[in-house]
Amino acid sequence: MTTKHKVIFDTDPGVDDAMALYFALAHPDIDILGITTIFGNVTVQQATANALYLTRIAGYDIPVAGGAPVPLAKAAGMPPGFIHGDDGLGNLDQRSAIDAQPESCSAAEYIVSMARAHPGEITLVAVAPLANLGLALKIEPNLPKLLKRVILMAGTVTEPGNVSPVAEANVWNDPDAADLVFTAGWNLTMVGLDVTHRVVLPSSFFVELAKKHNHLAMTTLSHAANFYCDFYKSIRPELGHACYGHDVLAFVCLVAPELFKTQEGRIRVVTDGIANGQTMMDKLNGKIFYPQPGWEPDKPVTHACMQVDVNACIQLIETTLAGNWLKAPLTV
Ligand code: BDR
Ligand code: CA
Repeated sequence: MTTKHKVIFDTDPGVDDAMALYFALAHPDIDILGITTIFGNVTVQQATANALYLTRIAGYDIPVAGGAPVPLAKAAGMPPGFIHGDDGLGNLDQRSAIDAQPESCSAAEYIVSMARAHPGEITLVAVAPLANLGLALKIEPNLPKLLKRVILMAGTVTEPGNVSPVAEANVWNDPDAADLVFTAGWNLTMVGLDVTHRVVLPSSFFVELAKKHNHLAMTTLSHAANFYCDFYKSIRPELGHACYGHDVLAFVCLVAPELFKTQEGRIRVVTDGIANGQTMMDKLNGKIFYPQPGWEPDKPVTHACMQVDVNACIQLIETTLAGNWLKAPLTV
């Protein structure tokens, strides 16, 4: 019998966040204990509303705790409505009414209390700017020992960035939080643009799943994916009407690590200047001593995903989402 992965999902939904959430709900080996939200693709208020909406319309009553509204140090920016829609879900025409409230504690408090209650058992999957983890570390410096592992959709090692030539959006949105996370000392896996830019999902992929299920949750996801694919078509016409699944790959990596090849090395984040948000990896993995402070041998190593079995990954996403996982919507 497989023991399910107990997960806290830290997210800024966001279209690919919604893909990730539904993959996680659909996968038999994942148990989402709770969701924590943060600014990023939308405001944190919208992210919380979207997390509640997406879970309830799929029929799942999962706790949602709202998190940081702004980065730890960097000035807050505007959410990219042109990528995910002003509502984060491709500008839905209407929403069914749900009766659901977020937790009374903050995301950081939620992460800490759950980690203390289940020491060594919880995997934190974070696919958004990382202030909630940074704030949780400030409350509980022993958090890296209390969590089983952390998987990030964040950063890049060799692939060009998506908000600058060197920076990935989740890291760039809060580079100070990201540097805290990369140096905290947990069992850390990075699923970055090196692999997420290999996995292209056409809008027809979601249309077919929506047809198969004929369920509000999947028509909502298909609508959102269509908007997201419009954006990618405007910047990457060679992909066709398609998008990157970014965040869903963090969960694929959790349940099917054999589909990825990793490289191990210390990672630091540039926190200002023209390379703001760059994830720099020590590709020599400690083989030589650097006089530059910040690269001391005790800095922890990250497992960075560098290659992915693209076809197997897409097949797994499809068969998982096509399964019998949707329940009656918790609408009023
Ligand atoms: C990441 O940035 C966000 O826009 C996506 O949701 C994903 O988490 C990709 O760089
Ligand atoms: Ca995200």
